[in-house]
Amino acid sequence: MDERLERYVTELFAAEDPILSKIRARHQSEKLPAINVSPEEGKLLHLLVLLIQAKHVLEIGSLGGYSGVWLARALAPGGSLTTIEKDPKHASIARQAFAAAGLQDRIRLIEGAALDVLPTLSPGFDAVFIDADKEPLPKYFDWGMRLLRKGGLLLCDNAFFHGAAIDPKDDSAAARGVRGFNELAAKDPRLVATVVPVRDGLVVGLKVRD
Ligand code: SAH
Ligand code: DHB
Ligand code: MG
Repeated sequence: MDERLERYVTELFAAEDPILSKIRARHQSEKLPAINVSPEEGKLLHLLVLLIQAKHVLEIGSLGGYSGVWLARALAPGGSLTTIEKDPKHASIARQAFAAAGLQDRIRLIEGAALDVLPTLSPGFDAVFIDADKEPLPKYFDWGMRLLRKGGLLLCDNAFFHGAAIDPKDDSAAARGVRGFNELAAKDPRLVATVVPVRDGLVVGLKVRD
């Protein structure tokens, strides 16, 4: 998308409050990778969670807590976000972000590698947002589908992976993971899915049957 149009949409529809701006700024000051969702992608995640009146949301990949705050602010009353992060420094910064946003009571951050943590979770999530390492994405697809309720949303960042998804020369494990996830999301009969071309592509799928 034309950068000016993107800025127009961000400023009009996805303006950050000071809390979100500060969380994003911390990525620079703490030298975290700048791979958080953009404001307009955050707003889309927020809107999707609101649409289904989600109470229980799962995120894989917390980083500094930026997407987590967009997600958690959309939870229905009494709801909670569970977010998984394997890097202790990221986990600590994310916890600080959730506290600064007054969301510490609605967010449970589990420190650990996703494939170790996922088997410990109970099914019944209303939405699952996958945004961590790319090689295991087909496994995260299976876990997401297993943990989602019927009528729940499967969301996954980096559907394009900077173009690697369609680059025949890129045979990296990450690119193969992204392609594998996209194919599963497109073809699994339990899911109705598409890619919203926001930032690096967001897979949005509705689990229509168990
Ligand atoms: N969702 C965040 C960005 C996540 S970046 C946002 O938009 O604000 C990806 C994060 O996933 C990083 O913090 C990285 O440490 C974490 N991660 C990578 N591999 C992981 C794994 N196997 N298990 C859990 N977290 C992982
Ligand atoms: C990158 C970007 C992401 O949004 C992500 O989740 C992982 C990696 C990247 O730019 O490498
Ligand atoms: Mg991402």
